[in-house]
Amino acid sequence: MTRVVAIVITAALSLSCKSPAPAADRGDAALAPTGPAASADAAPAGAELDAKLAFRRDGKDVATLTLAEMLARVPAEKFTAFDPYYARDKSWHAIPIAPLVRSVFGDDAKLRELDFVLIARDGYTIPLVGEKLLEPGGYIAFADADVPAWEPIGPQRAHPGPFYVVWSKDSQRSLETHPRPWQLVSVEIKPFETTYPHTFPRGASASAARGFRTFRAICIHCHAMNREGGRVGPELNVPQSIVEYRPEAQIRAYIRDPKTFRYGNMPAHPSLTDADLDDLISYFKAMKAQKHDTGS
Ligand code: HEC
Repeated sequence: MTRVVAIVITAALSLSCKSPAPAADRGDAALAPTGPAASADAAPAGAELDAKLAFRRDGKDVATLTLAEMLARVPAEKFTAFDPYYARDKSWHAIPIAPLVRSVFGDDAKLRELDFVLIARDGYTIPLVGEKLLEPGGYIAFADADVPAWEPIGPQRAHPGPFYVVWSKDSQRSLETHPRPWQLVSVEIKPFETTYPHTFPRGASASAARGFRTFRAICIHCHAMNREGGRVGPELNVPQSIVEYRPEAQIRAYIRDPKTFRYGNMPAHPSLTDADLDDLISYFKAMKAQKHDTGS
């Protein structure tokens, strides 16, 4: 089994290196196509063929696949693209997400309309609509082609493997629209209401509902609302809502261009209109009246 898989990897890599590999790469014996005699160690350095990724639908296991099993379903590719966490180009050995997800959940056109979540080992949960997850250019990297043992990532210098979500296109560089969880452990189909039930503005105005849609699309993977959401930025509703301790004008200006206040990791949002900011403020105000704090 491993033998066959190793050949698949080798073949896929040699086929998918569309541009000539840099000398350093070619010198990597592990990548040289060695023909039918290839053995398990033909996998790129750093790839863990036994590492598992779970696929669930509405809380039920659909499949748990090892890297070797995923590679047997979908050929790996190698590409170089800008990575915002490393702030430079990085090269990856990676499996395209769309064919992998379709091979597990079925080639159902409706997949694009469903809500997915990507879950990292530490529980970090990133909701993504199917339309985004299945975009061409989305990949699960399983080996760092530049640094055999993977290069540490993020402020905590974490090990990104065995599975790190990456995007290959220039239009997919932004972490805001194309998040990149590392140490990915599962890909799940799960309605957003189930993932984050306390982020909905119940019975709120149309403006708050629009603000929620914006928040859900571009803020929630970094910010929690009622303890549900990302942890990159601060929680925005409990114990105090952002609209309780910051003046509205300041919140608007901060969201649009945080670096005019302080240097930090919140991206600027120059494309948000005044109306979008009105809607976000309406959403924050609606949520101020719907606090839910698990206290944990
Ligand atoms: C890539 C992650 C990320 C995204 C996306 C993001 N933020 Fe932030 N945000 C942060 C971080 C990190 C901070 C804290 C920054 C600092 O202290 O310098 C922050 C701070 C804030 C603050 C100030 C909180 C305070 O008490 O000072 C507000 C308000 C805010 N974000 C709102 C938003 C909104 C609204 C969106 C979506 C339009 C958004 N953020 C998108 C990471 C993010």
